[in-house]
Amino acid sequence: MEKRFTMLKNKEIIVGVTGGIAAYKTVELVRGLSRRGANVHVVMTKNAMEFVTPLTFQTVSGNTVIHEMFELFTGSKIGHITLSDIADLLVIAPATANIIGKVANGIADDFLTTMVMATTVPVFFVPSMNTKMWGSPMVQANTQKLKDAGYKMMEPASGDLACGTEGKGRLPTIEEIMENIEDIFAVKDLAGERILITAGPTTEYIDPVRCITNKSSGKMGYAIAKIARRRGAEVMLITGPTALQLPRTDIPMIQVTTACDMRDAVMEHYKRATVIIKTAAVADFKCRNEACQKIKKKGDSNYLMLELEKNPDIIGELGKVKEDRILVGFAAETDNILEHAVEKLKKKNLDLIIANNVAKAGIGFGADDNEVTIIEKSGVSKEVPKMSKDEIAQTILDAVIKVIKKRKK
Ligand code: CTP
Repeated sequence: MEKRFTMLKNKEIIVGVTGGIAAYKTVELVRGLSRRGANVHVVMTKNAMEFVTPLTFQTVSGNTVIHEMFELFTGSKIGHITLSDIADLLVIAPATANIIGKVANGIADDFLTTMVMATTVPVFFVPSMNTKMWGSPMVQANTQKLKDAGYKMMEPASGDLACGTEGKGRLPTIEEIMENIEDIFAVKDLAGERILITAGPTTEYIDPVRCITNKSSGKMGYAIAKIARRRGAEVMLITGPTALQLPRTDIPMIQVTTACDMRDAVMEHYKRATVIIKTAAVADFKCRNEACQKIKKKGDSNYLMLELEKNPDIIGELGKVKEDRILVGFAAETDNILEHAVEKLKKKNLDLIIANNVAKAGIGFGADDNEVTIIEKSGVSKEVPKMSKDEIAQTILDAVIKVIKKRKK
């Protein structure tokens, strides 16, 4: 299994599995946590074993699964050290109405509930159950009791449920659960900052069915938005057309199509921001006369002339009005990368520019990885080797924090 190290690297995470149909999805959660470098220990209740076998969890976690009250003391490879002593976090997924009710009322009658009662590490409940059960006054009261006592709790998702009904009660997606787990561990060093991020390409129409665009997938900008939010910033994302899901539900997103739409959205919202990161690959030109109807092939000519007109340079405009806001640009280049990037940084009055070689295979446009050079206004530059866009986003935000700290001195 390829491991992608994140802030979960070497974290000891206990995953408690209780008896709900969503228990099969927890297998993917354990796999995902392990892939991100965590050492996962699974504890199952008796009812959970009706849905998934301990062997499955043992195989994906690489650790013995605990499912008996006294098993830990009879030959488990972690011996007499209690799990909750070595753990950094205890996640309960799926959390049924039963376990929520037991913990809320101080009942400890199996290994998992005993451990919850005994632990001092954060406990994170991911509820999943039938919509009516979730909505019942008892479950709601118990959930509130747990929140008031300092337990972390995720809201179930809405949609089709295994019992044939529809509504709130589904286990949130594995990505969302993992994002919440990363959140628990994240240092909130961007708290108090308001970051406006643009992402993706813009699309300029030639006629109702044809357009000019570029190969930007939006992945880099979405990764910055997700990590900035995780690190405590208030984030707004203005995005061109992409195939990506909103990275977090607590990030307001404005969807735009053209460069002019993006410019209007940015100009409407930039004043509230303390930091603006312009990741978007804005189309430099639009059609001068966009046709209202589909352009038909006419006559024998092999050519069609399109007259293009320059789009607004959004970051250039921001550079003139930014005052003390931190402005970060990207330079997508294919040659003389650093030279072009430094030129853009100066010309557009930026505080940082992130240069990347969009002609190199495996990085940049559309790829999951990137390799960039971060250049400061002072000329200091830092080469960031090939890594995931999440990791690149961390490094870019570290550079932003460096600028913030310098300003405060
Ligand atoms: N940018 C922008 N508005 C535009 C074009 C670019 O805000 N109309 C921003 C991008 O979001 C990026 C930075 O400017 O942060 C540099 O974009 P890039 O396309 O590399 O540079 P251009 O200024 O368009 O110059 P050129 O295409 O000639 O390299």
